[in-house]
Amino acid sequence: MTEAISYFQDRTCPYHPPSAYRPLREGGPLAQVTFYDGRKVWAVTGHAEARALLSDPRLSSDRQNPAFPIPVERFAAIRRARTPLIGVDDPEHNTHRRMLIPSFSVKRTAALRPDIQRIVDELIDRMLEQGPPAELVSAFALPVPSMVICSLLGVPYADHEFFEEQSRRLLRGRSADEAEAARSELEEYFTGLIADKEKRPGDGLLDELIEDRLRAGALEHDELVRLAMILLVAGHETTANMISLGVFTLLEHPEQLARLKAEESLMPAAVEELLRFLSIADGLLRVAKEDIEVGGQLIRADDGVLFPASLINRDEDAYPAPDRLDLERSARHHVAFGFGIHQCLGQNLARAELEIALRSLFTRLPDLRLAVPAAEIPFKPGDTLQGMIELPLSW
Ligand code: HEM
Repeated sequence: MTEAISYFQDRTCPYHPPSAYRPLREGGPLAQVTFYDGRKVWAVTGHAEARALLSDPRLSSDRQNPAFPIPVERFAAIRRARTPLIGVDDPEHNTHRRMLIPSFSVKRTAALRPDIQRIVDELIDRMLEQGPPAELVSAFALPVPSMVICSLLGVPYADHEFFEEQSRRLLRGRSADEAEAARSELEEYFTGLIADKEKRPGDGLLDELIEDRLRAGALEHDELVRLAMILLVAGHETTANMISLGVFTLLEHPEQLARLKAEESLMPAAVEELLRFLSIADGLLRVAKEDIEVGGQLIRADDGVLFPASLINRDEDAYPAPDRLDLERSARHHVAFGFGIHQCLGQNLARAELEIALRSLFTRLPDLRLAVPAAEIPFKPGDTLQGMIELPLSW
């Protein structure tokens, strides 16, 4: 077995898994890694094993289970409050998921496309008025999904600086106390917003949930507050990172970008391949409820299990030449959105946003290029969602 290496480590290139994880890829499909507190957990790197385990009900997402693995100190805060959907098991998970699925269906998402296109076009208009150059994260990558999720939920975009900052502290704060403080600020914000909406209803998803579920007694007040927080945070940080890192990666692969520009119909496949290649949510976690035998190893009850998506999505048994970005390959079945009952609820929305954002950017700014050398552009550390901190561009 591979000697337990420490997890998380930083990427050395924004779009490749950390080179320090190489022994894990070579040792697969299961190996042990060490977390910051010295705890050893299983890292699953085989694609087939990961998909089997992610849909195995013997693995739990219950973050309040004292055996749930904590990969970095600030995540200790996640134990202190119940996190609906992503942090609970069925049947509770399924009750909330069923409530939300209609709002994130392919059909409902398709109906949002004109709105997404308008948001994207207006942001590009502004970039054209003010630039070149432009800093893509603040001018485009973050505002696109923020505006879209605000309009879907019925959250005022005017509050975006507040909730973007709290999301950043929640996901990338320096300590558990900072993450906890951000969580409680968001909780307070949504408590107030939902109270306002009860008096003056609007037309977002939160208003629908108040009308159809809260008033009917099918949802508690604090459940709705926490669902709203999850949807807002998951709905903007993730896609923002995919847009910034996706643009950077395409600019660093000019021959692939040229193929994409020449062949518009390639866009849906290109988005799948970028999701696979970039694997921005690189470390899903579970705890075993029972002993499980897999890949010749025994995962024991209460063992922590980690799914490093960036390695699973580069398993060469699933994807030939996995380290090559190939927009024409079939990257379906990647685990960038997870797999099993917790598979990303917002994936249709994320795909629509990515397609529209990338197509519009490269069509309207055909000479888009990095404004400074790639090596000088800062990207996020390994223990959070992967993406660019800044992306200075010119055209
Ligand atoms: C490219 C962008 C995105 C990526 C890479 C991504 C990734 C993921 C992953 C990996 C999971 C599974 C977590 C686990 O199994 O523990 C997940 C779950 C989830 N995502 Fe996304 N996500 C993205 C965009 C979105 C958007 C736009 C929303 C909109 C609200 C969203 C909402 C959710 C929710 C609510 C869950 C929990 C689902 C459940 O537990 O049933 N995500 N996402």
